[in-house]
Amino acid sequence: MENKDKIIEMLKKAMAMEIQSAHQYMHQHFELDDQDFGELAKNVKLIAIDEMRHAEALGERIKELGGEPTSQLAGPIVKGQELKEIFPFDAKEEEEAIKAYTEFAKLCREYGDTISANLFEEMIEHEQEHYNYFSNVDQHIQSLGDAYLGRLAGTSADTGKPKGFVVKDK
Ligand SMILES: [Fe+2]
Ligand SMILES: [Fe+2]
Repeated sequence: MENKDKIIEMLKKAMAMEIQSAHQYMHQHFELDDQDFGELAKNVKLIAIDEMRHAEALGERIKELGGEPTSQLAGPIVKGQELKEIFPFDAKEEEEAIKAYTEFAKLCREYGDTISANLFEEMIEHEQEHYNYFSNVDQHIQSLGDAYLGRLAGTSADTGKPKGFVVKDK
């Protein structure tokens, strides 16, 4: 395949972004759980798991093309955020991912790599759903403030057991 190296570079860039998001959201999940906002913690945890699956899928595609999956993070993890900072921050992360993957999908298609293009397009749909969630929470916090947050305080953070090696049924 022509331009294979360029495709592998894009996949690696995206993989580093996914690893960073997975770490960032996992960290936020712990902080939200600490503050007893269970429902927010639960959803941020599930989104972190989506990002980990994205990183895995990108790594597998990199291997298929003969490249070496990355273990780098695209950037540092931000810690100690105020509750109200978390959701606009995450919405922006998702927007940036959508922008980058739209460009990557387009280039992969131009280079004739349908499989990688499809992977990016599938991830764009997921990132859009993540964006919608983060942005909805942000809007609720802005418009309803403490009334909204008060309703979430003390809610359950239980996600059940997301599927893994040991836990196979959901
Ligand atoms: Fe992702
Ligand atoms: Fe995402």
